[in-house]
Amino acid sequence: MNATSQRLTRREFTKATLIAGAAVASGTFAAVGQNNRIRTGVIGCGSVSGSYLPVLTKCPYVEVVSLCDIRPERARKRAEQFKVAHHYPHIDKMLAGEAFDFLINLTDMQEHEHLNQQALEAGKHVWSEKPIANSLKAGQKLLRLATEKKRRLWGAPITVQSPQFAFMARTLAQGTLGRVAAAHANYGHEGPNWSSFFYEKGGGSMPDLAVYNITTLTGLLGPAKHVTAMLSIVTPERDITEKGKIKVTEEDNAQVLIDHGQGVISHVQSGFNYFNPHGHDGSGERQHTVTVVGSGGFMGLVGYDWAPQGVDLATRKQRNIERHATDAEGYVWQQGAALAAECLVTGKELLVTPEHALHVLEIITAARESQGTGKRIKLTSTFKWPVVT
Ligand SMILES: NC(=O)c1ccc[n+]([C@@H]2O[C@H](COP(=O)([O-])OP(=O)(O)OC[C@H]3O[C@@H](n4cnc5c(N)ncnc54)[C@H](O)[C@@H]3O)[C@@H](O)[C@H]2O)c1
Repeated sequence: MNATSQRLTRREFTKATLIAGAAVASGTFAAVGQNNRIRTGVIGCGSVSGSYLPVLTKCPYVEVVSLCDIRPERARKRAEQFKVAHHYPHIDKMLAGEAFDFLINLTDMQEHEHLNQQALEAGKHVWSEKPIANSLKAGQKLLRLATEKKRRLWGAPITVQSPQFAFMARTLAQGTLGRVAAAHANYGHEGPNWSSFFYEKGGGSMPDLAVYNITTLTGLLGPAKHVTAMLSIVTPERDITEKGKIKVTEEDNAQVLIDHGQGVISHVQSGFNYFNPHGHDGSGERQHTVTVVGSGGFMGLVGYDWAPQGVDLATRKQRNIERHATDAEGYVWQQGAALAAECLVTGKELLVTPEHALHVLEIITAARESQGTGKRIKLTSTFKWPVVT
């Protein structure tokens, strides 16, 4: 054997280190899985688990060993449906039960922070639906905890992983649009009717919907420097399945202006009162939902940034709009936790970072501060940019 073949590649080294680290944490190699699959627990067996579990149970890097929901019937049903051996009614029982190394958190938005913390403290890697935490400060504390524990923490959404995002980012980096000036993004529907948390403190249309557009625009144009916003409640009462009428206390209508520095300004429009002929299904959307314009070109993302279908581009040289990047290349919005599992097993890094997710969270809280004070809010956080090189 020569010296080169004895050396581990970076990927092999990361994998060996992670497996060893996880083995130390759990006290057994079996918990990591000898089949190159990370032993995974999913908490929250509501609506979105129905989109995640089909991807996770087909993913070659994942072994779903347990499910959990405070509504035990939901965990039991999903366990039956996806042939998962163990299910629990509480995180304490899940952590004390069947060994696992990776927690996927699909619970109510308000529950993420404390469950993510408990899982990290117990030595688990964490993938969280948005938001990772309820505030930038709390999110940064979680990230420090993850670093201390030598564990990974990621959060949805994953719009920066799509080939359409990559095409747009590279087009901007090549200067094809000339001097970039402005961008607009919009996403809305008529609002969920299955759970009240979307409309209660810690919820709202920004952390549920605008979060996609804010992730995309900061991913394309760079970290935000300042935010100004106007927010409102258009529908003060909602009818929720199994609950009846509830009071809406968080914004269901948001207009957020983002200053990316160097003169670039973007705008996100989002809310729970948008009639949409496609309902919650993104596959039928054909409009541009993200547009970017500069002195020498225009670019429009066809469909939603979480389910993109192509990118239209027109430039000074090519004045007729041409469609690019029409192939999804396997990208689906619900694959984030599966990509994180692949990273844990193989060392292949994601474009999604927790620092970006926390920056987006700060924009959302700054938008609320702007609405409350009438002021333009300076941001403190940032993330590694450009996302795509
Ligand atoms: N529904 C979607 O299509 C969708 C899409 C993308 C992202 N999301 C995000 O996914 C998350 C969940 O949304 P949802 O629509 O699935 O909501 P949901 O109400 O349908 O499901 C949430 C589930 O979490 C459970 N839960 C709440 N607190 C818990 C706790 N402490 N321990 C264990 N279980 C707990 C609830 O009992 C419920 O079954 C939210 O952050 C939402 O923004 C949802």
